[in-house]
Amino acid sequence: MSFNIAIDGPAGAGKSTIARAAARNLGFLYVDTGAMYRAIAFSLIRSGVEPEDEAGIEKVLESMTIRIVYSDGEQQILLNGENVTAFLRDEAVGNMASRSASNPKVREKLLQLQRDLAKENDVIMDGRDIGTFVLPDADVKVYLTASVEERAKRRYLELIEKGQDADMEKIKEDIRTRDTQDMNRSIAPLKQAKDAVVIDSSKLTIPEVMDRIVDAFQESLKLKG
Ligand code: DC
Repeated sequence: MSFNIAIDGPAGAGKSTIARAAARNLGFLYVDTGAMYRAIAFSLIRSGVEPEDEAGIEKVLESMTIRIVYSDGEQQILLNGENVTAFLRDEAVGNMASRSASNPKVREKLLQLQRDLAKENDVIMDGRDIGTFVLPDADVKVYLTASVEERAKRRYLELIEKGQDADMEKIKEDIRTRDTQDMNRSIAPLKQAKDAVVIDSSKLTIPEVMDRIVDAFQESLKLKG
């Protein structure tokens, strides 16, 4: 049986950095479900379909294939056979993903793919609804969060490092909007699973967060016998 670690939390809490590093450490597959929602969003943007246009979304989904492959341990997303991974980190794609992720057909399209990956592999899967809905029986569940100020600061520094424009107030506002959308939608909203280990990364370093996750992993191994 495969071993599954679920990491949920709001945008910018450090989920992907931590999950990627922990997966490498443990020899697990890192499954980034946000990238899957971003791939659908990217396809909707390309087709000029608005996130509220249910019929338009359904039509795009009908003819869409999404496949996940790994290259040097990095997840790649093939949208209708084309590797679109490099286009997915844009702010516009993230915002569209947050809006279109409230559509039940969008979520349905990805659910089985996510569950199959977790059934066939030892995975660390991150997202918004992994511990609560996609993998309710995950061996370890983590809810990773951080204050809006800290998440905005990290995003600001990331953009500056890339040589891009960054406006702190605008970043904070985007984060708040994304939190509201992700936490308040009627289907699979972001919330803490009852049995999740909660980690607030606001004042922790990456190695400190990693240590807590490895502790939770070892605890769970002991319980499994
Ligand atoms: O983690 P991320 O920023 O790449 O995710 C982009 C958006 O996709 C996020 O704002 C909400 C949506 N998402 C989701 O609804 N469920 C998931 N499991 C992962 C992401």
